[in-house]
Amino acid sequence: MGLRQFGRARLLLLGGVASVLVLAALYGPGRGSQPLVLFFSPWRIEKQLYKLDLSWPKFPELFTGQTFCVAVDHIHGLVYVGQRGDHVPKVLVFSEEGYLLQAWNTTLEMPHGIFALNTANDSSVWITDVGTGEYGHTIKQYSPSGKLLQVLGIPGVAGSGTNPVQFDQPAEIYVEHTGDIYVVDGDGGMNNRLLKLTEDLKTLWLRGENGSGTAQFRIPHSVTVDSFGRVWVADRGNQRIQAFDKTTGEWLGSWSDCFVEDGPYSVRLTADEKYMITAQLNIDRVLILAAPPVGSIGDCVVVDTIQLAARVRPHLLDISMKSGAVYVAEIGAQQVQKYVPLD
Ligand SMILES: *[C@@H]1O[C@H](CO)[C@@H](O)[C@H](O)[C@H]1NC(C)=O
Ligand SMILES: *[C@@H]1O[C@H](CO)[C@@H](O)[C@H](O)[C@H]1NC(C)=O
Ligand SMILES: *[C@@H]1O[C@H](CO)[C@@H](O)[C@H](O)[C@H]1NC(C)=O
Repeated sequence: MGLRQFGRARLLLLGGVASVLVLAALYGPGRGSQPLVLFFSPWRIEKQLYKLDLSWPKFPELFTGQTFCVAVDHIHGLVYVGQRGDHVPKVLVFSEEGYLLQAWNTTLEMPHGIFALNTANDSSVWITDVGTGEYGHTIKQYSPSGKLLQVLGIPGVAGSGTNPVQFDQPAEIYVEHTGDIYVVDGDGGMNNRLLKLTEDLKTLWLRGENGSGTAQFRIPHSVTVDSFGRVWVADRGNQRIQAFDKTTGEWLGSWSDCFVEDGPYSVRLTADEKYMITAQLNIDRVLILAAPPVGSIGDCVVVDTIQLAARVRPHLLDISMKSGAVYVAEIGAQQVQKYVPLD
């Protein structure tokens, strides 16, 4: 353990160097006779928004596998962690205070994405399984104590069907309080699509195919829905985030300027919907973007970054809707770390 945050100064320095290069390109020799090109920079960093909470969890040695995903049930103060590996429990349940409460080990091969649904009457955990064995290519719904409630997809069979619905390495799921389900499928398999399903698994709409055009995907990796009726997808391989209308599936826009160095791995919004937070695994960075108001998504704007140590490899993350804490699942460091908002 113990790979820690470092070097904000280094990042600011990089920003400075980039600005100088841009100025040089605009005003330097050879460009004098050309018309001035207006340069759009997505970087608007003003202050540090989060700090690492070194006291979470209390016993980091309890992480025993590769930690791929994390989900927060803010109503009950629980943090679910999905990990992979031989002879390790696949799900660890911590309290938001950092104590391990439970570990389960059922019917899961390779957890990829995890989602905690909590409403007044319902509390469950949904996990996508990208395993290729007898349980894989599915999404499972569990009770908070790990009882299997429902399986979406055909266990052990990769496919593209919609009746019944099938997946190939489903990457992540988002479930609305109405029961409607959004799935990004998948993490490198034959499908590159976003599906909206009813509670009883009828397909309402489906977008996407393999490609880099509008509303196409290359590894759609994470999905979330905002209160303005927009569905956000981390289109990892295309190094962009795309947004869709949740009712019609209509494409609303795309952000790519913020992802020149590495694609987005996650999409999550803060409770006030002011910020979108995403991980960039290959450059060990968490990026905090300004979330735009209702309607057109405009251009992306970076308002802060958290630079992690080399090879930490942040994969997926989740945000507590109560405390605002950001939990980051780090595959390389084999741990989940907690970042708390600074006032
Ligand atoms: C979990 O199950 C796997 C086999 O499915 C087994 O190898 C492993 O020992 C189990 N781990 C725990 C902690 O029970
Ligand atoms: C929760 O359950 C109660 C009792 O069954 C019911 O009256 C209420 O409408 C439900 N609330 C929601 C949000 O479904
Ligand atoms: C998607 O397209 C890319 C580029 O043409 C190709 O490398 C990749 O194998 C394709 N993936 C699938 C699942 O067809």
